Amino acid sequence: MRETIQRAAKDLTNAKTAVALTGAGISVESGIPPFRGKGGVWEKIDPMEYATIDAFMRDPAKVWNVLIKEMKEIIDRAEPNEGHKGLARLAEMGILTTVITQNVDGLHQAAGNEDVIEFHGNFAWHRCMDCDASIETPSIDLSRIPPRCGCGGIYRPEVIFFGEMIPPEALTRSQQLSAQCDVMLVVGTSATVQPAAYMPVIAKRSGAKVIEINPEASPLTATVSDYLVKGPAGKAMSGIIAELERLRVS
Ligand code: APR
Repeated sequence: MRETIQRAAKDLTNAKTAVALTGAGISVESGIPPFRGKGGVWEKIDPMEYATIDAFMRDPAKVWNVLIKEMKEIIDRAEPNEGHKGLARLAEMGILTTVITQNVDGLHQAAGNEDVIEFHGNFAWHRCMDCDASIETPSIDLSRIPPRCGCGGIYRPEVIFFGEMIPPEALTRSQQLSAQCDVMLVVGTSATVQPAAYMPVIAKRSGAKVIEINPEASPLTATVSDYLVKGPAGKAMSGIIAELERLRVS
């Protein structure tokens, strides 16, 4: 891992328009389980039964009880970890411009990144399905499930369920930035869900250096990524920042 950390720091030293694509793995060290692999949410509950918009419309109470309530409890107490903080430091150093994230936990913003594209929305807000009123997630009263707005409408999270469209502006901007970046850091994603997983392909085809950070290989590793920093995001990002700071003073 040491060698690839040094290589990543070197590749990032002269980057000006680096972009990060992040997945659930970067938030694992903040106590938020991933969806796939060890301890994955989808190992316990079937996403096709609980995480599609049809499932939610069919039985909102069931989806609230099995999926959303637990997500709220976990995200409400999650804090940014060294992985999020490392990406925020890269932005401060003028190396990273944007984080494209598949996550809905808001931890990149909490760590200090200002330009974050949320491919799958954000769990920080909910919306009434009748009158469209917004409410901050922590202030939702869970004594009644599903929670309802004063108008009687049911609250739904401002996240993208399976079967819903990726916000068009998020998709367009992500494609543009992927085509223009000089380095793409791909952190903590199994690269199995499209179109997010296509961003590194666009970056590679446009001549960017693609650096993966993950304890395991993904479908990108052998075909798209230049190399894999094989380890947890927190340790990898801390090492890369330390090496960058060293290179900058030397
Ligand atoms: N640091 C970095 N990566 C990690 C860590 C860690 N500490 N722990 C696990 N990982 C990696 C796993 O090896 C895996 O490759 O994070 C990845 C998690 O993969 P997924 O759970 O599939 O998450 P993600 O790629 O973001 O899923 C994409 O699928 O279900 C939908 O909407 C959901 O946004 C999600 C999308």
